[in-house]
Amino acid sequence: MTVKEIKIAYAEYGSLEQLEPQDRELAKAAIEATKSSYAPYSHFNVGAAVRLEGGEIVCGSNQENAAFPSGLCAERTAMFYANAANPEKAMLSIALAGCQNGILCETPATPCGACRQVMAQYQTKSGKDMSVLMVGREKIWKFDRVDDILPLIFDSI
Ligand code: THU
Repeated sequence: MTVKEIKIAYAEYGSLEQLEPQDRELAKAAIEATKSSYAPYSHFNVGAAVRLEGGEIVCGSNQENAAFPSGLCAERTAMFYANAANPEKAMLSIALAGCQNGILCETPATPCGACRQVMAQYQTKSGKDMSVLMVGREKIWKFDRVDDILPLIFDSI
């Protein structure tokens, strides 16, 4: 038996100003996208912004429904929209932000497992790394590729 270790490195920033200009623009787009969230049940407003190859930014937000499983997270709303409109373009980066009562959460909102799985597959589809930016009021976390937040991804079929 051998004990194996998985180490994950990520960057932590203290403010939007510390980010590279492209990441700052994407983070701001995710914050802005929280405004289109429809969350009458959780009152947790999430925004996501996807950077496509070529530079375009596509946004989404969480959309809830009285039939709970019919709702969708912000990240998947943004990614499905991005790939439906631009199936040939790689998604190079995704940012997400969570708000409550109109205030950006202090600690970054982190993507749910289902959203990570969808990110992983679009990354595999394009063959290009997709970075993930989790934007909070006090901290911003950046992971360079989806593998870092979903190691040992199922891709056997
Ligand atoms: N939510 C997202 O939009 N993204 C995530 O990664 C986690 C959760 C949404 C779903 C639901 O509308 C609300 O946040 C509370 O779970």
